[in-house]
Amino acid sequence: MSAHGRFITFEGIDGAGKTTHIQALADGLRAAGHEVLLTREPGGTPLAETLRELVLHQPMDALTESLMVFAARRDHLAHRIAPALAQGITVICDRFTDASFAYQGGGRGFDRGVLTQLEAWVQEGRQPDLTLWFDLPAAEAARRRGAVRAPDRFESQDEAFFERVRAGYLARQAADPRRFAVIDATGAPAAVWAQVEAAVREHGAW
Ligand code: TYD
Repeated sequence: MSAHGRFITFEGIDGAGKTTHIQALADGLRAAGHEVLLTREPGGTPLAETLRELVLHQPMDALTESLMVFAARRDHLAHRIAPALAQGITVICDRFTDASFAYQGGGRGFDRGVLTQLEAWVQEGRQPDLTLWFDLPAAEAARRRGAVRAPDRFESQDEAFFERVRAGYLARQAADPRRFAVIDATGAPAAVWAQVEAAVREHGAW
């Protein structure tokens, strides 16, 4: 095992179906003998989970939203992610900074220059080693989400919002293609899982 753990993130629009595959990847890596931290954003520490509740349910403008997701990220990175990686633990995170560029930058239309500045301050050069981007059209994701019980501030957005989010992910992937594995999320779960497993193996993280 390498001295430094691998940092793997999962991304995609709401309804892309990443949740079951995240759990399956954590289970698979653990069965193969890896120590795994499975975590999420916004969230992952008591402070960041408190911020998550606010971001998902309280009205706020796009700058406030951006500051809050990056504040949550700072706490999560400093207190959970970085210490785990330093111990050689594989960290799997459900969403990370690409989601800020996709949702705040793409969906909300917020200034990407400000997001880039926040990213630099908060991450100090650290990036995920591998990002699995579950890509599918917004209309298909909306069909899969169906009637979510009580949609949060993002889930309640219209299809045009999610197409902008998708375009935001595409721009991030195009800017750093080596970090990304693009997962075609339109197929059946087994076909999607095969792509996830192949990408992680190819990256040498299995
Ligand atoms: P999500 O991860 O989809 O969790 P759940 O499956 O419980 O709904 O929800 C998190 C939401 O937060 C999602 O709609 C995207 C949004 N988000 C941002 O807008 N910016 C960010 O930086 C992050 C990490 C998430």
